[in-house]
Amino acid sequence: MKSIFLESGHIKLYKRENSQYWQMKIKLPKQRAIRSSTGSKILKEAKKIALKNYSSFGISNRIKKTSKNIYKKIHLVETADLNKKEIEFILDEAKKFINFNKKRVKKSNLLEGRTVFNLFFEDSTRTRTSFEVAAKRLGADLINVAVKDSSINKGETLLDTMTTINSMNPDVLIVRHPEEGISKRISNNVDACVINAGDGSHEHPTQALLDALTIKNRFNNFSKLQIAICGDILHSRVARSNIIILSKLGAKVNVIGPKQWLPKNINKLPVEVYTDMKKGLKNCDIVMMLRIQKERIVGKIMPNQKTYFNKYGLDYNKLKYAKKNAFVMHPGPMNRGFEIDSKLADDITRSLIQEQVAMGVAIRMACLDILIKNRDNVLSY
Ligand code: CP
Repeated sequence: MKSIFLESGHIKLYKRENSQYWQMKIKLPKQRAIRSSTGSKILKEAKKIALKNYSSFGISNRIKKTSKNIYKKIHLVETADLNKKEIEFILDEAKKFINFNKKRVKKSNLLEGRTVFNLFFEDSTRTRTSFEVAAKRLGADLINVAVKDSSINKGETLLDTMTTINSMNPDVLIVRHPEEGISKRISNNVDACVINAGDGSHEHPTQALLDALTIKNRFNNFSKLQIAICGDILHSRVARSNIIILSKLGAKVNVIGPKQWLPKNINKLPVEVYTDMKKGLKNCDIVMMLRIQKERIVGKIMPNQKTYFNKYGLDYNKLKYAKKNAFVMHPGPMNRGFEIDSKLADDITRSLIQEQVAMGVAIRMACLDILIKNRDNVLSY
């Protein structure tokens, strides 16, 4: 039998001893092979026919598109899973959606026919709605599961709920839940892509990515930046994800907070630790304030609001400890007058808080697009 290969081996042309016609086999990784006769006895003609078939299936385009993705995983559950190149790739992909989101008509068919589930077992405004906006702008169908009315209340386990929804062939499950590590567990039990939208005090990867995109818009180069993350570090998933992402991008990170709100293992993280705002804010380009996570401070004494604000609340006076034109960030929701002065939070010459919300939509559009494309690459339809 004579045979030749084209397109990195994806096309095989072969002629059996008992046949005069060239046969073709088109095969992609993890996809069923397509076999048929080219209907030609002449190799040159058979090559042309095979290549035409190959591209008419949209296969060559699809390979080029999918192989472009530097982040190749189908889940986004932990920042530990991301390296610097992958983070930069997601930020660059998100940048493409920033101008799109400013258009009068914001509608694309990039994810048409795809199904995305929002599964929020904890309160949310920004994350839930921005995933909904992101999915809808890309043409996907988004289902907000009313968790409070779900069969979880009848005793169904969370994993049973997830596998039930998985049987409806969704493309993405977006999960917020108070249990640490739950998104990772779910991702091991379903076919759909899983995005961690916040798991207890553990991680909130898309928040850290949107924060990085907000910073990149202003400074571009992270390696020269010093960023302070201040307040309730212990209970904050936003702090943990930001420490990992920002340090991987090359920024120097200071954490500042009262001793009782610094995690025991803080020295194992790539940060400098301070309990004094004046010292910790010195030379900082960005001051990222954290919400006091009242819902996680159970059985412990909450600090008095005025006492806390005097020591750790950010106002114009404390901001002077940082660089002259330092910017202020906050993931929201804010406790005005507790961790941040209300006027400073609304000062658009210093505060990037509203820009963070806008970048949240762009980042979530990029994440949905990247993960769904990656999943297409490992499944055949
Ligand atoms: N930053 C953040 O996660 O906000 P929500 O709790 O409103 O989603």
